[in-house]
Amino acid sequence: MATLPTPAYYSFGPYAKKVPLALHKRNRERLCEHLRELAGVPSGAIVVLKGGVTMLRHSTDHEIYFRQESYMHWLFGVLEPDCWGAVEVDTGNSILFMPDLPADYAVWMGTIHPPEHFKMKYDVDEVHFTKENHFKIVAELKKKNASKLLLLRGINTDSGNPTEPADFNGIDQFELDYDHLFNIISELRVMKTDMELDVMRYVTQVSCNAHKKVMKAVKPLMTQYQAESIFEHSCFADGACKLMSYDCIGASGAHCATLHYGHAGNPNDKVIQNGDMCLFDMGCEYYCYGSDVTCSFPVNGHFTDDQKMVYEAVLAASRAVMDNTKEGVCWVDNHRLAERVILIHLKNFGMLKGDVDDMMRAHMGAIFMPHGLGHFIGIDTHDVGGYPPGVERPTEPGLESLRTARNLKAGMAITIEPGCYFIDMLMDQALDSQEQSAFIEREVFARFRRFGGVRIEDDVVVREHDCELLSHSLPRTVSEIQVFMGAKS
Ligand code: GLY
Repeated sequence: MATLPTPAYYSFGPYAKKVPLALHKRNRERLCEHLRELAGVPSGAIVVLKGGVTMLRHSTDHEIYFRQESYMHWLFGVLEPDCWGAVEVDTGNSILFMPDLPADYAVWMGTIHPPEHFKMKYDVDEVHFTKENHFKIVAELKKKNASKLLLLRGINTDSGNPTEPADFNGIDQFELDYDHLFNIISELRVMKTDMELDVMRYVTQVSCNAHKKVMKAVKPLMTQYQAESIFEHSCFADGACKLMSYDCIGASGAHCATLHYGHAGNPNDKVIQNGDMCLFDMGCEYYCYGSDVTCSFPVNGHFTDDQKMVYEAVLAASRAVMDNTKEGVCWVDNHRLAERVILIHLKNFGMLKGDVDDMMRAHMGAIFMPHGLGHFIGIDTHDVGGYPPGVERPTEPGLESLRTARNLKAGMAITIEPGCYFIDMLMDQALDSQEQSAFIEREVFARFRRFGGVRIEDDVVVREHDCELLSHSLPRTVSEIQVFMGAKS
């Protein structure tokens, strides 16, 4: 049997961060502690999760690189596809059901390890191989006299998509409970443990280092994807982060006004022109824990007066929110705070006129920042738990895009990402609105038509009296950026 470390840890190769598998054991303990307190969960209940499955590229036999389903990762940290995981609530006994692999796996994919290997690798109590008829899963759960199987059913509040509850041949022989698991695990995922935060500190630092490499290397006439490739190379080569948390947004110039630029229809394929602002929203993940960081800066390292004004408006919003971020603060209030700070700056610059309270009532903030202030981050970039039962999504412009409207608690990890964009469609709508156009100085506003936008995005962890800034190592002020980039031209 291959040598495995004890205590068990995960590491992407010998040079990368070691993450103790105790992280998942602690998550299982937390889950069982909560479930045991619930009236609807009887003695003998067993949690069953289905992990992610092998995916092929369309109709071909080309396997897509596997990344574990997020709830399964949280509970077990198992890297392989096509597994089930179970936890006996009374005892915390942990069980992995892994595919009984065909002999030719050893030819194409590598060694077929025995169950004992995976038991050590994942620090679980039992591992069983299961064939396609799933007979083994049924037999083992029956042997344990499962009173109920607790399954994961719920809707992701960002995507609107359902989770896929565990299913296997013979599951109908058990009493099934879909009511309890989703909300409890989602809430536990929101509240990060120290071991989880340790991984998040690491991955955010890797992303920050990669952003800094990009800022040093980028220059006019480079393509956006060349900047993206520098970021990805640094994440992988220096930080062992093979996967990005999301597709890199490598916008420049007017493209910075496209919030999710960089997708297949707009794939970071333009040339960055001298004088352009860059808006690079890029973050990698390590061991499924993500980072999400945005840096905005002029490609040549010199801010023009207009660029400086917009940048400093956003930075002031970011820092006002950061100063206000602590346990008990309502995230909606933080969003409004960011809007207000940006509007004040635009008014002082002469783009807007009138009373800022009146502007807030007229939803002027949403013209410039149509997205939410930030989102939970963890195993998913837009992490779960933003709208648990009892928390309503706001309906006002701007606020409706918030991915959470919760009061903050210590242990939550969240992005702070105010932005100020000049988006043609929203500018036209504002000019067409009698109420909103009254606040606009048309000539100044018009000058910003092709400006693009600025976003500054940091990752923080909420504490009782303040927050911890995970993305602390970036140059952020105008002068820090200009000095860092060496005022290139
Ligand atoms: N920063 C990318 C996203 O939030 O989707």
